[in-house]
Amino acid sequence: MSSPRLPDMTHRVAGLRRGATPVVPPNNALLPGFRSSKNQFPEQRSNVVERSQFVKAGSRQYEVIMTQNGLEACSEWILRSIGAESALIVTTPTVAELYAGQLFACLQSKGASVEIMTINCTEASKGLDQVTRVCQRAAEFGLGRKGLLIGVGGGVCTDIVTVAASWIRRGIGYIRVPTTLIGQIDAGIGIKGAVNFQRKKSYLGCFFAPRAVVITPSFLATLPHRHLREGFAEMIKIAIVRDAALFELIELCGSELLKDGFQKGHSKQNEVIWRSIAGMLAELEPNIFEDQTYERLVDFGHTFSPALESISNFEITHGEAVSIDIAVSTALGHAMTFIDDQTSHRILSSLITMDLPIWSCRLELDVCRRALADCSLHRGGKPNLVVPADIGHAKFLTDEQTIVDRLGDALKFLEHLSSKIGGTSVPHCENSGCLSELAS
Ligand SMILES: NC(=O)c1ccc[n+]([C@@H]2O[C@H](COP(=O)([O-])OP(=O)(O)OC[C@H]3O[C@@H](n4cnc5c(N)ncnc54)[C@H](O)[C@@H]3O)[C@@H](O)[C@H]2O)c1
Ligand SMILES: [Zn+2]
Repeated sequence: MSSPRLPDMTHRVAGLRRGATPVVPPNNALLPGFRSSKNQFPEQRSNVVERSQFVKAGSRQYEVIMTQNGLEACSEWILRSIGAESALIVTTPTVAELYAGQLFACLQSKGASVEIMTINCTEASKGLDQVTRVCQRAAEFGLGRKGLLIGVGGGVCTDIVTVAASWIRRGIGYIRVPTTLIGQIDAGIGIKGAVNFQRKKSYLGCFFAPRAVVITPSFLATLPHRHLREGFAEMIKIAIVRDAALFELIELCGSELLKDGFQKGHSKQNEVIWRSIAGMLAELEPNIFEDQTYERLVDFGHTFSPALESISNFEITHGEAVSIDIAVSTALGHAMTFIDDQTSHRILSSLITMDLPIWSCRLELDVCRRALADCSLHRGGKPNLVVPADIGHAKFLTDEQTIVDRLGDALKFLEHLSSKIGGTSVPHCENSGCLSELAS
């Protein structure tokens, strides 16, 4: 079948400034809620902040900072921000033990009015109940209009906190301290929060900007391998659609970072994380409420993946599903001759090298078809499927039927490839392994 003629909608957004030193807010603006004083945080934080960027979200702005000492930076901010008010730390049991408990103790020792609660929540139980629990605890604690929620944890935790913060008194301040790789480069840095509803992934949610996001790569030391590699799926996503240099960096040192958990002080590690953050923010900021365009490059890998997560009852995790979706979109791009063999090979190899899946038996044609229809519902009537056009460039496919016509072959190709390379590392989508097979 000949390739359909599609308008070339390849996106190239100018590279973002990467702040090597702390960036002072434009016009000396302060983060909303942070009190102005001569010895405000910028001077003090210069010891700890490595990279920083302000993000505009309507009439608000918030800062994303990367630091090696997130607990210190965070407690500093909270203390300055709440004054006589209170803060409720929301975390998960694992993260409470590892990090959030220390933050709580530190704030308490400094006389802050602070409470901590843990939510034992997974993707499968990420629903309204959890949001209500946080609100209930906030009410019991007497959190005022100027009180703060502090979400310390992975994307599940920070999503729940985001929705709760938007509800409480019609919106109170909140800070995100993401502790997973997905959280640090993706889930924790935008303004969206959502929970699942009636088996529909992220069906209920909000756009609600945080006061600040504090990224601490050293937290990744304790992150289990499975969750670490998931983060690489989101990194590879952003690299493919807009940053060829990031892609090369991942090819060069991704497997080493995956192995050492970003802990060896590898000179490239912060570069990889910050480039991913900067790329994500550059895509999000101009369309932060998603009301400017339905063509979002960051939707790459996020068309079939929500359905895959749901039908596997969330046994396939978010990053794994994104990886499979990237593979499907790449196979489609290849079938439609947007990318050549070599580019397709590089993309699939990058996923496999990071121990990520490229296919699942659960992703049947019908599931894909429903996923496309579902995406059309919230992408202005068209699926706007993002497919690679090169490393660093992508196109949008807008015609559902054209996509469906090619999907069967794309899925078959990936199934065949998976069976060839073998491996058993991911439930329901075993595939990782020998790269040399991929070329044949
Ligand atoms: N709001 C958004 O814009 C957005 C964007 C992308 C993804 N998401 C959501 O994010 C979620 C995925 O987030 P995730 O990948 O962070 O998963 P997660 O929140 O489920 O965390 C994974 C696991 O790691 C544990 N953990 C967290 N930090 C740890 C650490 N430093 N050391 C050891 N264990 C740690 C957690 O307790 C959890 O068991 C999904 O629900 C997805 O829908 C939201
Ligand atoms: Zn994602």
